Amino acid sequence: DKYAVIMAGGAGLRLWPLSREHKPKQFIGVEGMSSMLEQTIERITELIPPDNCFVITNKNYAEITCEALKNIIPLQNIILEPLRKNTGACISYAALLLERRFQASPVCFIPADSYVSNKQEYLKAIRQAYAESESSSGLTIIGVNPTYPATGYGYIKIDPSGQTDQTDPRHISDVQQFKEKPDTATARAYVDSGHYLWNSGMVAGNLQAFKSGIQQHMPEHFKILSAALDQLDSPAFDSLIEQAFSQLPEISFDNGVLEHSGSLKAIKGYFDWDDIGSLDALGKLVGYDESGNAVSGSYVGMDTNDSVIFSSDILVTSIGVSNMMIIKTKDVILVCPKERAQDVKAFVELLKRAG
Ligand code: GDD
Ligand code: MG
Repeated sequence: DKYAVIMAGGAGLRLWPLSREHKPKQFIGVEGMSSMLEQTIERITELIPPDNCFVITNKNYAEITCEALKNIIPLQNIILEPLRKNTGACISYAALLLERRFQASPVCFIPADSYVSNKQEYLKAIRQAYAESESSSGLTIIGVNPTYPATGYGYIKIDPSGQTDQTDPRHISDVQQFKEKPDTATARAYVDSGHYLWNSGMVAGNLQAFKSGIQQHMPEHFKILSAALDQLDSPAFDSLIEQAFSQLPEISFDNGVLEHSGSLKAIKGYFDWDDIGSLDALGKLVGYDESGNAVSGSYVGMDTNDSVIFSSDILVTSIGVSNMMIIKTKDVILVCPKERAQDVKAFVELLKRAG
C-alpha cells in the first residue's frame, strides 16, 4: 500500500492579512474556490485512497482542518503537532509514527500550499516518485523548471550524465546538490546555468528511507521522537509528545536532511506550479482581467492596472494606480507595491513584536 501525507501546519506569514495566525494560507479559499488544502487532497485522492491519506498540522488548526476534511478523509488520519517546529519536526513525527504502522511502505509528503494547473502531469510525477520509492533506499524529490531567480525555494542540481536517457519516460536523475533558499545572486546563477530545478516541496521515499535519513542527519529529532513514540499507547502520550516537541530544534526538512543527503534522486515534473508564497502571486488563483488586475470582492477603479485588489466586504476603489496591492480584510487594510510583496513577512514579524 502507498500513503500520502499532506503538510498543512505552516503559518503563511507572507500572505498576511489574508492569512492570519488562526487561518494561514493553506486554509484560505478565494471567492467560491475551495482552499489550497482541499484542492491538494482532491488531487491526491485520485491516486491514493482517502483511507491512506494523512494530514499533519498544528493542534491549533485541528478544528479548521477537521471542518475542511470531514467528508473527505477519516478524521483519525489528521495528525496533530503540539508545537510548530517547522517541517523537520513535521516530517520526522509523521514518518516515524507511520513507520510503526506500515513498516517500509512508500509515502509521499506533499505541501498544502501549492498551486498546480496541470493535474495529470502532477499526478504523473508523483506516481513516478512512488515507483522509485519501491526500489530505492534513498529519498526522491520532485522538481520543476525554474522560471525566475526566486529566493524562497529550494534548488536541485541534477546530474546531466546520471540522467536516464531521453527514451526513459521517467525523467529521473541523481541529485548533485540541494540548496535551500539561496540569495538572489546565487539563484540567478543557478537559473542561468540550466542545471537546476526548483524544489516543489514534495518528497517521497519508503518509510525506512525516511527513518534512516532522519536518524543520520537529524539525530536529535530521531532520538527525542522515537522515545516519545515508544509510549504511543500510554495515556500520558499527549504530554510526552508535547515535551518532546518542546525539545526539538526548529529546522526545515530541507535544511536538516535534504541538503545533507548523498543519495537523493529527483524527478522532473512538467506541471505549472507556484507556491503562492506572496500576495502578488494571488493572480494565479483568481485570474487577471484585461487591465492585468487580479480582483476579488467588490471593487471599482479608473486607470488602474497590474494590481492585486481584494476586499472581504466594503467597496474598494482606486484611481490612477498601477502595480499595487490593496488588500482589505475584516479588520485590516494593507496597501503595498507589488515589488515589495516579499517584505510582508518581515513586516508581520515586526508587527507581532510591537504587539
Ligand atoms: N504540519 C506542519 N508543521 N506543517 C508545516 C510546518 C510545521 O511546523 N511548517 C510548514 N509546514 C507546511 C506548510 O503549511 C507548507 O504546506 C509546507 O509545510 C512547506 O512549508 P513552507 O513554510 O511553506 O516552506 P517554504 O515554502 O518556505 O519552502 C519549502 O517549499 C518550497 C516550495 O513551496 C521548501 O521545501 C522549498 O525547498 C520549496 O522550494
Ligand atoms: Mg511554502
